[in-house]
Amino acid sequence: MAVDLLLGLQWGDEGKGKIVDYLTKNYNIIARFQGGPNAGHTLEFDGIKHVLHTIPSGIFHKEAVNVVGNGVVIDPVIFQKELNALAKFNLDFKETLLISRKAHIILPTHRLLDAASETSKGKAKIGSTLKGIGPTYMDKTGRNGIRIGDLEFDNWKEKYRQLANKHQALIEFYNVDVQYNLKELEHEFFEAIESIKSLQFIDSEEYLHQAQIDNKTILAEGAQGSLLDIDFGTYPFVTSSNTTAAGACTGLGIAPNKIKNVFGIFKAYTTRVGSGPFPTELFDEDGARMAKVGNEFGATTGRPRRCGWLDLVALKYAVQVNGVTELMMMKGDVLSGFKTLKVCVAYKYKGEEIQHLPYNIEAENLEPVYKEFKGWKEDISKHSDFDSLPQTLKDYIKFIEDELHVPIKIVSVGPDRKETILR
Ligand code: GDP
Ligand code: IMO
Ligand code: MG
Repeated sequence: MAVDLLLGLQWGDEGKGKIVDYLTKNYNIIARFQGGPNAGHTLEFDGIKHVLHTIPSGIFHKEAVNVVGNGVVIDPVIFQKELNALAKFNLDFKETLLISRKAHIILPTHRLLDAASETSKGKAKIGSTLKGIGPTYMDKTGRNGIRIGDLEFDNWKEKYRQLANKHQALIEFYNVDVQYNLKELEHEFFEAIESIKSLQFIDSEEYLHQAQIDNKTILAEGAQGSLLDIDFGTYPFVTSSNTTAAGACTGLGIAPNKIKNVFGIFKAYTTRVGSGPFPTELFDEDGARMAKVGNEFGATTGRPRRCGWLDLVALKYAVQVNGVTELMMMKGDVLSGFKTLKVCVAYKYKGEEIQHLPYNIEAENLEPVYKEFKGWKEDISKHSDFDSLPQTLKDYIKFIEDELHVPIKIVSVGPDRKETILR
């Protein structure tokens, strides 16, 4: 059976968690392919609001198997906290939560290195979530990392000690004020490791290969967004993994020709948390309104998200890089009540109007060109069929589809699982 892929097309927080949870009923397996606890995926249903960081968003469906793929980086301490937070839901993780032996482990010193690196950058800081993501992927590509599978061998603690010592020397090299008590951090780290050892560690590429032979349906869940991709994002203000479609192949061991549908998810406007360029960012009442109505605060760090109009140039780029076959538009309800809406359809760049993403999209180089749309007044959150939506919203949707040449199959009108319109 073919594999489907769901990923974010903007700078993250598009609503991936909500839609993966919504779609899980159609799949046997949900598999996360990259990122780590920098992600915060929010699920709302039956009066429950729950944020997941590393655990795939299919976990609340008892029949689904959730795989944490080799492309993911795992912080045992955060993972343990996630498991504890799920304890009250009576889920049986033994059979439904499987971890790849090839996933890399975030050490306490990776988190410290993240903090030291960010502090040393001063104003040029990335705005990292400080979960140790960058340093862990650096050790992975530098061939120094410790993987989940290493925990099954006795000598992993020697490897750990060597690496932690090296990290401490590096932290000193940064020569910035990072206070820590490594003994305490290690205590909780080793305790968490003992506890996650009760879960099943698997050769996930083999497992997923066999699942395909057995005609199981698989949905690969992305984290972050395409514009945070290490290669195609707004470098260096990006995360340290491939968030785009190719990341699912390397992050799960799935062959490219096995991928069928690529679901691209975007907000009806744009948000970004952390530093970096954001051409359509708003600093006025409209932006403040999006932030307030959309409750735009990071699910992982609680930081306010920057808000702005929909950027179709950037979205087109993301659709292209990912080969998106179906779109899902989130948070349309947040735009209710705006008299006029704007969509960026081109950039003014070096005196010319362009419709692609240039190498440098810093504000001083480029200015968005907007097309205006009439807004709608109605609260749309109680609508359950597409036809009943206000005509002006349907016009907005039609314009996006025509520009991107991809159909919008889901329109989300609220955070709850039920507030989802399937076309
Ligand atoms: P993710 O990282 O892509 O999973 O997204 P987050 O969970 O970080 O952020 C999306 C936020 O928007 C969460 O608080 C969701 O509950 C919420 N949300 C998702 N879809 C909608 C929607 O259609 N309307 C509104 N108002 N909120 C939504
Ligand atoms: P989800 O999966 C939004 C941002 C950080 C920072 C940059 C690098 O919930 O969409 P890192 O911690 O990776 O070193 O941070 O990337 N970032 C996210 N922004 N949603 C996320 O995940 C993010 N994960 C990382 O704010 O700008
Ligand atoms: Mg999020």
